[in-house]
Amino acid sequence: MNQANNITEYLQKNLSALSQELMEWLTIPSVSTLPEHNDDVRRAAVWIQNKLTATGFHQTSIIETAGHPLVYAEWMVDATQPTLLIYGHYDVQPTDPLGLWQSPPFEPEIREGNIYARGASDDKGQIMLVIAALQAWIAVTGKPPVNIKILLEGEEEAGGEAIADYVSHNKEVLVADAVLICDTHMPSASQPSLIAGLRGILYTELHITGAKTDLHSGSYGGVAPNPIHALCLIISQIKTEDGTIHIPELQAALPTPLETEKSFWKEDPLNIEKALCEEMGVTDLVGENDYPALERIGLRPTFEVHGIAGGFTGEGAKTVIPAKATAKISLRLPPNYNTNEVFSWLKKRVEQLSPQGYKVELKNIHAGDGLIVDQDNHFFREAACALETAYNKPPVFLKEGGSIPIAALFDKHLRTPVVLMGFALPDDNIHAPNEKFNLQQFFMGMKTVADYLGRLRK
Ligand code: BES
Ligand code: MN
Ligand code: MN
Repeated sequence: MNQANNITEYLQKNLSALSQELMEWLTIPSVSTLPEHNDDVRRAAVWIQNKLTATGFHQTSIIETAGHPLVYAEWMVDATQPTLLIYGHYDVQPTDPLGLWQSPPFEPEIREGNIYARGASDDKGQIMLVIAALQAWIAVTGKPPVNIKILLEGEEEAGGEAIADYVSHNKEVLVADAVLICDTHMPSASQPSLIAGLRGILYTELHITGAKTDLHSGSYGGVAPNPIHALCLIISQIKTEDGTIHIPELQAALPTPLETEKSFWKEDPLNIEKALCEEMGVTDLVGENDYPALERIGLRPTFEVHGIAGGFTGEGAKTVIPAKATAKISLRLPPNYNTNEVFSWLKKRVEQLSPQGYKVELKNIHAGDGLIVDQDNHFFREAACALETAYNKPPVFLKEGGSIPIAALFDKHLRTPVVLMGFALPDDNIHAPNEKFNLQQFFMGMKTVADYLGRLRK
């Protein structure tokens, strides 16, 4: 009991120093998808490696990969204790549209109890809260309470190829009794949650070519192919107004939800439908109206267009028929789908829908599997207890719409429970302008994880 008090006291005393450190890390623009930031991504890796060393980890390393580096640290304290593998990602999303940020994305600022910066919530802030929990244990007892392995990646937001390769070839290095991932959110600051499942993702690019060059829309209008129009036709037939995705094989393989889930989704006791409207600033939800919102996010597939490029969008008018058009499109997938298979179904459908007179090409950019979390184990149960203790309320178990592809790979290769315990809030604006992390959540996260570590047994 005393020890727990000392740990909480340590965290309270050091909260402001830990926030300052996080803010320093947040100044490094580790945007993994933009090659001009490659050096910054590496700087962010070295920064957190140094932080781990300063925390007391004697064994830390930067692991080179074909992409961005991995950071690894290990502290084996006692063979009779369990080993926890901690995962996080130190890369961040791009910042555009930059003009919408109230303060520059890499000049962290505290406003009304929140740290504003790209990566504050996703995922640097959540990595820091786990390290803070370890730091508190080390300060109070000299070492972590269980064996710790930490693996941080620098290209999660870019598809995570390097870590997928590393994990499949280094199972013996990563052997653990459980994996802890803090990279998700909870419904509100007073309602904790544990993730019961994650959707998979398939990210594609659709390229359409018409004529060999841009054309005058008067001289050729009426006879020329217009790739933007072809693109819109294909897209609008794959997902129709009612939200249905017209890929027959995909529809045929849809999973059936559990009865308990179905009633939770239908009743929506946390009033998440309303919260979603507020977060988005809209009056109505769109999509498959026959299914409750929580089911649409947790277990239904999606087909989303992220961007369309082509033709003329500059100031003024230009009468041109473009030669090319491109769309970035991704699908979120329930955990039972094989993403390669889905890609072949989608490709077939795109080919069927392609109008005459165009060259249509679909590219698989990256893919990751979803996961159904195993809840029937000590590591999951203790996570629920730690959350209940910290928040004075039992967690709800939610299927998350976002994807963390490495979670499925840990499950597959290491065959250990994966606990997804996140402290982000729904209004953290992850991937959007004005990303923030709430300082109270930062503190509660440290406290919860510190308590969690103390509960683990072999
Ligand atoms: N932390 C997110 C996943 C997430 C999002 C969890 C929202 C909970 C709520 C992660 O960093 C992420 O953005 N994942 C990508 C994966 C993709 C790039 C392979 C995603 O979901 O788009
Ligand atoms: Mn993340
Ligand atoms: Mn993300």
